[in-house]
Amino acid sequence: MTDLVDNVAAVESDGLARIDAAASVADLRAVEQELVGGKRSALAALNQRLGQLAVEERKEVGRAINAARTRVEARIAERAEHLAAGEREARIAAERLDLTEVIGRRTTARGRRHLVTQARDELEDLFVAMGYQVAEGPEVETDWYNFEALNMPPAHPARSMWDTLYVRLGEAESTLLRTHTSPVQIRVMQSQPPPIHVVMPGRCYRRDTPDARHLPVFHQIEGLVVDRGITFGDLAGTIEAFTSAYFGPDIHSRLRPSFFPFTEPSAEFEISCIFCQGRGCRVCSQSGWIELGGCGMVDPNVFAAVGIDPEEYSGFAFGFGIDRCAMMRHDIDDIRHFIANDIRFLEQF
Ligand code: DAH
Repeated sequence: MTDLVDNVAAVESDGLARIDAAASVADLRAVEQELVGGKRSALAALNQRLGQLAVEERKEVGRAINAARTRVEARIAERAEHLAAGEREARIAAERLDLTEVIGRRTTARGRRHLVTQARDELEDLFVAMGYQVAEGPEVETDWYNFEALNMPPAHPARSMWDTLYVRLGEAESTLLRTHTSPVQIRVMQSQPPPIHVVMPGRCYRRDTPDARHLPVFHQIEGLVVDRGITFGDLAGTIEAFTSAYFGPDIHSRLRPSFFPFTEPSAEFEISCIFCQGRGCRVCSQSGWIELGGCGMVDPNVFAAVGIDPEEYSGFAFGFGIDRCAMMRHDIDDIRHFIANDIRFLEQF
């Protein structure tokens, strides 16, 4: 019997030493398994030997084993808490960020607004100075706003002017990434009665392969004026005012007949080539003019879609690329520079 009691003491003291030596929670769990874990653990093995003893002895040794188990388990719990706290601290220390690095850098390299954002802000300011308000619409649009309300019924051939990216939502081809900012015209006319003077800048999407002049994500600014007695002359004057204000007093505009489903008549507007001041160069193919955007008088069918009486009101609209404006003004030859994230490019503006 004394043999067995000695054994219990030995298992306990050896066990406590191993618990204290466990270097991690995982280690500790392994030790726990061996000491008190299950049928094959050290204390369970001692229990199994009780059967060889007389009843009285069995009770005494049994008590000794239980007491040893209690102490071992208490020590495990204590050690587990200690190890877990240490591990937590180590993890936090490892995840710590040295914010002084970021703060220190601020004085040497300051961020700035992206060139496209600068161009957008400037264009907004320019139109606000002419009395316009600024409006925005969603980039994920319905077919109705992007096409149908703009006088392009389903399957209308003019839809192929825009390579559309559809979103898998609802009925097939019912939801899309807007291909132009023109749907915002519709939203504005639905939300307020004339007189309307708004510009609507924003991101647009088309299924285009990137090249020097195209990106699948680009920016447009749309303009809309609706009131009594608005004429094509107002449109031409507005485009001219914007052109010289943004590109400089020597740069002028002209309109050429074109087609858009949402305007009638429609025009493309061109500005005198800013690289050769209209004399003719490689960029403008010797014509002296560069195309910038589309415009025209709001089609009566568009007014009908939003419940504005075309007998009472008339209006003009225009839309052009913000990225292209910035490229022309700063002589940037590739639109992909805008998204390459090369700090050497971005820092120049
Ligand atoms: N939405 C046209 C495009 O992306 C541009 C445009 C043309 C807008 C004529 C207009 C407009 O408002 O009247 O190609």
